[in-house]
Amino acid sequence: MKVLAFSGSLRTGSWNTKLLALAVDGLRARGVTVDVWDFRAANVPVYDPDTSDAHPWPAVLDVKERIRAAKGLVIVSPEYNYSIPGALKNLLDYVSRPPKDSPFRGKLAGQLGATSGPGGTLQGQVMLRHVLSGLGMTSVAGAFTLSRAAEAFDEAGQLKDAAQRASLDGFLDRYVAELKLRP
Ligand SMILES: Cc1cc2nc3c(=O)[nH]c(=O)nc-3n(C[C@H](O)[C@H](O)[C@H](O)COP(=O)(O)O)c2cc1C
Repeated sequence: MKVLAFSGSLRTGSWNTKLLALAVDGLRARGVTVDVWDFRAANVPVYDPDTSDAHPWPAVLDVKERIRAAKGLVIVSPEYNYSIPGALKNLLDYVSRPPKDSPFRGKLAGQLGATSGPGGTLQGQVMLRHVLSGLGMTSVAGAFTLSRAAEAFDEAGQLKDAAQRASLDGFLDRYVAELKLRP
């Protein structure tokens, strides 16, 4: 059982990257092999139909193979203007082309998100689910979302609130249970 996991934030000190670390630990504790991909280091350029298909960015080719080798994708993303960040949409667009070479079809998605605000990235999660469904992926029901992220983590990067820890555990349990059902 292998998944590829990454943060949809490019920001140094990102709350979503902190949450990714917790999700990765939780998945590994449940026996999942997690390939953690560094979106920021990949420095993905804007997808340009005139040039990108003929001369794909090396890091895009790399992540395509890594997605192909995985049963699922875990995306921990901020919400930008009630949607997903443009950089994440660009990545999904880039990796999805050309269509015959898209690695997404049939993968199981787990969606998580953290925001400094009160809204838990819920609107962004709906948008992400929509885009992923267009790519032939299924997202497990719900998403683990974190509001007021600046107050949510302790010094060690753990969630301070026991109810939030239990909620993350429950989400990861559901994700891994569905992953196990996959051939
Ligand atoms: C362009 C932009 C748009 C944003 N829009 C939203 C939004 O719609 N909803 C929200 O909860 N937070 C929004 N935020 C605030 C982010 O939640 C906050 O910057 C958060 O720290 C981003 O996640 P990160 O720490 O992982 O980078 C926005 C931030 C930026 C830069």
